[in-house]
Amino acid sequence: MTVLVTGATGRTGRRVAEAARAAGLRVRAASRGAGFDWTDRSTWADTLRGADAAYLVHPTDVGSPDAAEMVGGLAREAVGLGVRRLVLLSSRGEERARPAEEALRASGADWTVVRAAWFAQNFSEGPLVEGLLRGELVFPAGEVREPFIDVRDIADVVVAVLTGGDRYVGQELAVSGPRLLSFREAVGEIAAATGSALTYLPVTARQYGDQLAGFGVPAQEVEFLVELFESLLDGRNSYLSEGVREVLGREPCDFTAFAREAAGAGVWKG
Ligand SMILES: NC(=O)c1ccc[n+]([C@@H]2O[C@H](COP(=O)([O-])OP(=O)(O)OC[C@H]3O[C@@H](n4cnc5c(N)ncnc54)[C@H](OP(=O)(O)O)[C@@H]3O)[C@@H](O)[C@H]2O)c1
Repeated sequence: MTVLVTGATGRTGRRVAEAARAAGLRVRAASRGAGFDWTDRSTWADTLRGADAAYLVHPTDVGSPDAAEMVGGLAREAVGLGVRRLVLLSSRGEERARPAEEALRASGADWTVVRAAWFAQNFSEGPLVEGLLRGELVFPAGEVREPFIDVRDIADVVVAVLTGGDRYVGQELAVSGPRLLSFREAVGEIAAATGSALTYLPVTARQYGDQLAGFGVPAQEVEFLVELFESLLDGRNSYLSEGVREVLGREPCDFTAFAREAAGAGVWKG
């Protein structure tokens, strides 16, 4: 089986590509450097042609205003070219992600949606790293608790779904880590793993948005993120999901192990 992996240089796509190769699949790694651009339809057919399956990652947020059109467009083109088996990365509890999921379902593909909790790797690869390097994470999450998932578990689930025949076709799978942690507790875990004094400062989503605007983030993006954080971090996601256990038959990776490993790799060293 040849699987096209979008977002192949990103947090989940890179691990999906690794896990797929380890499972004996042929991987076509797609990102802009490899000539695939979600925003340029003329790049889609060459990327899709000849693949049997694809892992779809909207490059910014699966709930963003352009996501349904992009995911639906790519999925229809894929089906037209015979790439029927499509797995979309979506977001647990994000209502605005539902149109992209619906566009995938309407494409006629043999689809699976993987709805993920917040990634543990948001703390080690992405915008939260900078604050941790300064010693203080400023974030609009209050004391809400979230079951952070290690993206390697997402990758393993995606590959098990792709290699599982029809078993997961037409299913939405919710995946989370094994326990609930507040952002304060997550920062505490990272502080323990690194041996540094790290603090967490909760702010409102609006204050956080103002800060982003000050760093030059475009106003439209700021508004999107403010609304996203206000809704996603209101406690609606403070529960565990069973997808990793159901699909892989093992426990999801724990945040403590993630924090120790990332600390050992030096990601929070200035
Ligand atoms: N963060 C979370 O906690 C969380 C939770 C649930 C769901 N999600 C979803 O996860 C998705 C992001 O996945 P990720 O974190 O694995 O990715 P990521 O690390 O943010 O990386 C984005 C990937 O997309 C590629 N990319 C960027 N712009 C592109 C374009 N115009 N055309 C083609 N490729 C492009 C990038 O590669 P190049 O720059 O090399 O092109 C990169 O491989 C979003 O849809 C988000 O909604 C996130």
